Amino acid sequence: MTTNDAGPDSWKRRAGELIAALEQKGHLADPSLRAAFTEVPRHLFVPDYLRIKLDENGFAVREGKVDRSDAEYYDAVYSDQALMTQTKPVEGQPDSFVWSSSSSMPSVMADMIEELEVQSGMSILESGTGTGYNAAILCHLLGDQAVTTIEIDPDLLREALERLDNLGYHPATDPAGRLHDRVLATHAVDHVPYDWIRWSKPGAVILTDLRPPSNTDIGAWLKLTVNSDGKTATGKLMPPRGYFMSARQVAEFADIGHQLPELTLEEHQARAEMMKDRETHLSPAVFQDEVYGLYFWRQSSDVWWGSQDEVIILNSSDGSWAQVQDGTVIMLGPRDLWTEVEQAYQRWQAAGEPDLSEWTVEVTADGRTLIDLPHR
Ligand SMILES: C[S@@+](CC[C@H](N)C(=O)[O-])C[C@H]1O[C@@H](n2cnc3c(N)ncnc32)[C@H](O)[C@@H]1O
Repeated sequence: MTTNDAGPDSWKRRAGELIAALEQKGHLADPSLRAAFTEVPRHLFVPDYLRIKLDENGFAVREGKVDRSDAEYYDAVYSDQALMTQTKPVEGQPDSFVWSSSSSMPSVMADMIEELEVQSGMSILESGTGTGYNAAILCHLLGDQAVTTIEIDPDLLREALERLDNLGYHPATDPAGRLHDRVLATHAVDHVPYDWIRWSKPGAVILTDLRPPSNTDIGAWLKLTVNSDGKTATGKLMPPRGYFMSARQVAEFADIGHQLPELTLEEHQARAEMMKDRETHLSPAVFQDEVYGLYFWRQSSDVWWGSQDEVIILNSSDGSWAQVQDGTVIMLGPRDLWTEVEQAYQRWQAAGEPDLSEWTVEVTADGRTLIDLPHR
């Protein structure tokens, strides 16, 4: 494999243009990070990606693979785009799929590494090897002996390690082999996996995207410092500068989100007859405030919601359901989900609509992630 097979134009020119564009937008201030992005060829880590288009309902659908034989390939690889590289079927839903791996947006990769203030001499653990591109950037920056990368999907890991090997990088893959100064996750989590604390030195810094798996529209970046006891960590939330796919529990199946119960036609009819309605003054647009979305998720974590135009639909794990449109709530089931939203919103307003910087996060020695809302 060579590093100059970018068609008539060399990949280095394209990479240089991308880096200049990123610098103009305020990314890549650190010269050694800039050098890493200049010298590591992304196309060797993303030999192909999935072309996506939106269907008439606004849902993303796959439209085949793009590879080096396609005219658009090099432009896409050397642009500030996330490139989807793998999907997995959703259990029991043959027509559905979830995005299960990608090469992240270069600007987001750069921002995460800069936020971690990674310095020479540090050891770093990346969770979510994916294509291996981010691991290669870290290897260039710190030397491959400083980098450990882990990936839940053994096929992806094998391919990524082959690509890294082709460039002479041999990061470790055993996270317990040493204690790390930095942990960087390129997948989202809804709590901090306690292993990350176990694998870190006291004083280590951990950066991850915190996001409910069943509602990936809301989230925040979480930056934690491991306390001097080496067993607990304290952190803060910040506005997300990028958004990551949720962590999987198993390699084969990625969808750990909320699953609606399958109902028969009779059950649907019986439910329809039990529907109640009432008026509301609270607009579904309330969830456009991501911070309120997080606030609501922290207290009603089994409630899933999705909105389109002016309509919002909520479901909960016990089968309760609500739809809100034009000031009317239609609801069903044991819980009045929209009342939960309204009451949470009142508390949120009474607390002064606190922004993310005011929240506190603690990981306890028994492995719990406590995300506390400010009390005023
Ligand atoms: C956005 S992609 C990673 C991008 C990657 N760093 C790169 O440069 O190509 C997220 C990756 O996280 C992996 N992943 C998901 N859940 C995981 C878990 N629990 N542990 C480790 N890796 C996980 C996915 O399989 C996927 O490859």
